[in-house]
Amino acid sequence: LNNGLAKTPQMGWNSWNFFACDINEIVIKETADALLTTGLAKLGYNYVNIDDCWSELVRDSKGQLVPDSKTFPSGIKALADYVHSKGLKLGIYSDAGAFTCQVRPGSIFHESDDAKLFASWGVDYLKYDNCFNLGIPPKERYPPMRDALNATGRSIFYSLCEWGVDDPALWAGTVGNSWRTTDDINDSWASMTTIADLNDKWAAYAGPGGWNDPDMLEVGNGGMTYEEYRAHFSIWALMKAPLLIGCDVRNITSEAFEILSNEEVISVNQDPLGVQGRKVYAYGADNSYQVWAGPLSGQRLAVVLWNRGSKTASITVKWDVLGLESSISVSVRDLWKHNYVSANSMAYFSARVDAHSSEMYVFTPSMTFSAS
Ligand code: DGJ
Repeated sequence: LNNGLAKTPQMGWNSWNFFACDINEIVIKETADALLTTGLAKLGYNYVNIDDCWSELVRDSKGQLVPDSKTFPSGIKALADYVHSKGLKLGIYSDAGAFTCQVRPGSIFHESDDAKLFASWGVDYLKYDNCFNLGIPPKERYPPMRDALNATGRSIFYSLCEWGVDDPALWAGTVGNSWRTTDDINDSWASMTTIADLNDKWAAYAGPGGWNDPDMLEVGNGGMTYEEYRAHFSIWALMKAPLLIGCDVRNITSEAFEILSNEEVISVNQDPLGVQGRKVYAYGADNSYQVWAGPLSGQRLAVVLWNRGSKTASITVKWDVLGLESSISVSVRDLWKHNYVSANSMAYFSARVDAHSSEMYVFTPSMTFSAS
């Protein structure tokens, strides 16, 4: 969507994956604080996004949405002021239907009122869900909120959460700043790998202004191993997915922090070229040995070697699958070990990759002068 936002994929935090409905203004404020004290804010995680369950079960007598008086007694405006005072941005949630998934009032047919209310509170981001949608296709239900947000005059990031219904990549580029390509993620290897493959299909449609959204990060929630979470983060970064932390940042483990704070991996995600990396090669039993790659600015390439099998293996990437001539020599930067891999032969690169693990690199082809 051409609204000046989402030049690179959005980064921040969202309450749903860890807290679900168990949210309140204290959690949101403490999370904003924690993004600062941990240093995650400085690395680009700047949206603090409230998901479902922030509102009362009914609108007020004037038809307006009302923050839950028990859990958000100070109101959303006060929370936005607090978050802004920390240099962060506030996101809110509603639904392109009669109710949210947790049966709070939805925004369909109230788009203009709700957008004005969000803008008056100082909201910077809207995630717009798909429950109780009255059987109306998403293509019809999502544009009215775009227009309503636009009419407020406030810059508000518009995140479509239509769960991949009706192939949003094909129509959402002019509707939202990101669109979900799949159902909800859960905190498991099976869910994460399935979603990665589904999101991969739409790579060609992502770019500055509008990104494919394979759902929020589960890193730090406990259902996957360190290596699996590292693969999750590496692939989300490479796919130019939104990097929305989904764990409790106030109590983050050192392993989750190490993963989420990897600046070199974040820079792949935030690279100004904005091209979604994709699965470029897979081989071995069940195609478990996979090469995912995509172009970066400065003629560089981001490359992930991903072992989805159950044994350690050597995975090889040949230059031709990257579109490089075999005679080119490439410098290889390891983004997890933070070093340059020792002098590298031409034509291919191999590395040992543990089971359910990945390695991630930036390849810089050396300048060559073609004789032809
Ligand atoms: C479904 C969405 O896909 C989730 O991300 C979350 O927002 C829940 N609804 C909230 O009810």
